[in-house]
Amino acid sequence: GGPKFKLNNGAEIPAIGLGTWQSKPGEVANAVSYALKEVGYRHIDCAWAYGNEKEVGEGIRASGVPRSEVFITSKLWGTYHNRVEECLDQTLANLGTDYLDLYLVHWPVPLNPNGNHPVFPTLPNGKRDVYHEWKLTDTWKQMEEMVKKGKVKSIGVSNFSEAKLEEILPSAEIIPVVDQLELHVYNPQHKLISYLKSKGIVPQAYSPLGSTGSPLLTDEVATSIAEKHSLQTADVLLGYLVAKGIVALPKSVTPARIASNFTGAIAAAEKLDAADLEKLDGLAAAGKQKRFITPPWPVDLGFENWPPL
Ligand code: A2P
Repeated sequence: GGPKFKLNNGAEIPAIGLGTWQSKPGEVANAVSYALKEVGYRHIDCAWAYGNEKEVGEGIRASGVPRSEVFITSKLWGTYHNRVEECLDQTLANLGTDYLDLYLVHWPVPLNPNGNHPVFPTLPNGKRDVYHEWKLTDTWKQMEEMVKKGKVKSIGVSNFSEAKLEEILPSAEIIPVVDQLELHVYNPQHKLISYLKSKGIVPQAYSPLGSTGSPLLTDEVATSIAEKHSLQTADVLLGYLVAKGIVALPKSVTPARIASNFTGAIAAAEKLDAADLEKLDGLAAAGKQKRFITPPWPVDLGFENWPPL
């Protein structure tokens, strides 16, 4: 299962997980089964909103790896902030399991639960229909209930800036175990990462390779470091994160990449030296800062390098 990190509640999380966003229903079951059975992944990252959890569940069962050996994460969608258990129950049924290892608030943006669309409600002006009256502290209370009921082992957040975490932490009974963010060498979010470390919250990286058509894979600095260690550039990008204590969640439906992302990340995390890490740490500040994911929430999420729409 590869290296693991310790969470603030004592549980362990595999440092490399398979991402499933944008994995098509027809492809994802095979990808998940291959990752678990043939490669050694023990961590699958899902979300209700990805629309492919049924097939992810099929893939987990087809792998033959026992449920207890797989770390499964899913995420609460915005239109369900006022009915967490309903969204979670759908996810559990989709995946065909009776508990999750980790459940995350997908975005710090409650959406109108009675709007004109179950996933992306909009206002007449075309903007997303945000549920401004709903408080994140109440979402978090319901998340905590799911732990008490035994439906999830750990809870965390995703796409939360320091400002958004500060909204829920003062009244939280359970500290989030992770914050899943867009993290990679072009968007390292150094300040937020050190804040998370100070709170005992493990960062998780989505789009660690910079998503589809990524310029990261041809970055000169990353590529030269890869050549130095006889690694691939993708290995270096992933190993960099793992070496820094960040969970890497590369998405792929291609067997060769699913395999090399896992073995390569582990090899790179061991081989990268302090000078390599320093160079990679400095790429964004040297003019390469770039975000690839800008979702259309008409709300200031409080991130650096991410102006509100
Ligand atoms: P595919 O799923 O067709 O293999 P990210 O995890 O940063 O979002 O990146 C996912 C994208 O990068 C997908 O388009 C995926 O394609 C592709 N990808 C995943 N692993 C690799 C790799 N090792 N080398 C090149 N592209 C990759």
